[in-house]
Amino acid sequence: MGRDLTTETYAHIGPEVADPAKRFAGSDMACQSCHLEAGTKKFGLPFVGVFADFPQYRAREGEVGMLEDRINGCMTRSLNGKALPIDSPEMKAFVAYIEFLSDGRPIGRKTPGRGSGKMEDWRARPIPSSVGRFTNRTAPAVTERTARASESATPRATCSRRFGAPKASTTEPAWAG
Ligand code: HEC
Repeated sequence: MGRDLTTETYAHIGPEVADPAKRFAGSDMACQSCHLEAGTKKFGLPFVGVFADFPQYRAREGEVGMLEDRINGCMTRSLNGKALPIDSPEMKAFVAYIEFLSDGRPIGRKTPGRGSGKMEDWRARPIPSSVGRFTNRTAPAVTERTARASESATPRATCSRRFGAPKASTTEPAWAG
């Protein structure tokens, strides 16, 4: 049942199921929309090994998180719906399914292939010369904005030096004089 709930979430707890008491998810998505191949695909946000991570202490909230909380996090945020009661058959089925997929995984050790994999840092890629004048002209502006957003902790002078100082800046770029 946990597998069906993962692949066809909408058919069991979706917003249009016959029993209004079972309408937990707020969208027609399935868990599988994000946790690929019923949560079994490497780097497809798999459930494999996840059971071994719980309960887990979360420093930010200062509390112990249960697997059920994590599932309900996806119920409320990812599926835009309501939390499943801890003792509902659906919650128990999800937990049992994730436990089944995690069978034999050592507690406290990361299972290879968890998460979504490393994204390539596109900022490190050179802009191909073939993209032409338009892109070559606009790309630095985009890059600068991205760099500002992602490196807001970097002092402004660094950004200025790298991308050319705005007129009002107090730091002169090295090539200015
Ligand atoms: C819109 C995308 C999306 C949907 C739909 C979704 N999830 Fe998730 N889920 C995520 C993301 C993103 C994470 C965070 C993964 C991470 O931390 O590496 C996550 C994490 C989890 C985790 C913790 C996994 C871990 O590696 O610690 C569980 C368990 C989970 N989801 C269960 C579910 C269940 C059950 C459903 C269906 C009821 C569901 N999710 C639906 C995106 C989604």
